[in-house]
Amino acid sequence: MSFLKASLFALLLAAATGASSAQAQGVDPADVAAGMRLFRAKANCQTCHGWAGDGLKMDSQMPDAPNLRESQLDRDTIVTTIQCGRPGTGMPPFDRLAYSDGRCYQMKAADLDKSGLTLNDPPATLAPREIQLIADFLFAKVIGKGAMTRALCVEYWGGDVPACKDLTD
Ligand code: HEC
Repeated sequence: MSFLKASLFALLLAAATGASSAQAQGVDPADVAAGMRLFRAKANCQTCHGWAGDGLKMDSQMPDAPNLRESQLDRDTIVTTIQCGRPGTGMPPFDRLAYSDGRCYQMKAADLDKSGLTLNDPPATLAPREIQLIADFLFAKVIGKGAMTRALCVEYWGGDVPACKDLTD
């Protein structure tokens, strides 16, 4: 994206996500497991971010996406990023109504057009509750958890699957 678009969008993002909130405490393991399934299957975050969220994408045709394990974003910003995507980048919005009514960065589709910001279609749309489950999963298993190791891989997949073979502890 051009410098101008990037700085315009950074401004909008800063304005929209100024407030932060405490991260969820005592998350239910069933919610984490449900969020993990959404990340891997329905939402297919892994095609761009990799199954481990480390940016090693599963599909070489997909845009390069950042390593979520090293993300510094707070929970509200993560939820907004999934809901609204990042216009002008490869990150798609997963809320079906994202740019219909101003809920995302106070912008509608026409505003994005005017600013020349394009959007990728998401692999699927997600309900607000599903986005929260993915955030539960990311904070429990991905964000701030360091590099993927063999032990974490076995725990992640629930067994010593081929994906874990080349990893070290
Ligand atoms: C089509 C590829 C693609 C898909 C699918 C995708 N992303 Fe992204 N994602 C990106 C790209 C590219 C960026 C970087 C955007 C930028 O340049 O600011 C990104 C950025 C992010 C960020 C911001 C990270 C940071 O620290 O700034 C988060 C969080 C994120 N994605 C989560 C997800 C989740 C969760 C899913 C699934 C619900 C998902 N993404 C699906 C491509 C994708």
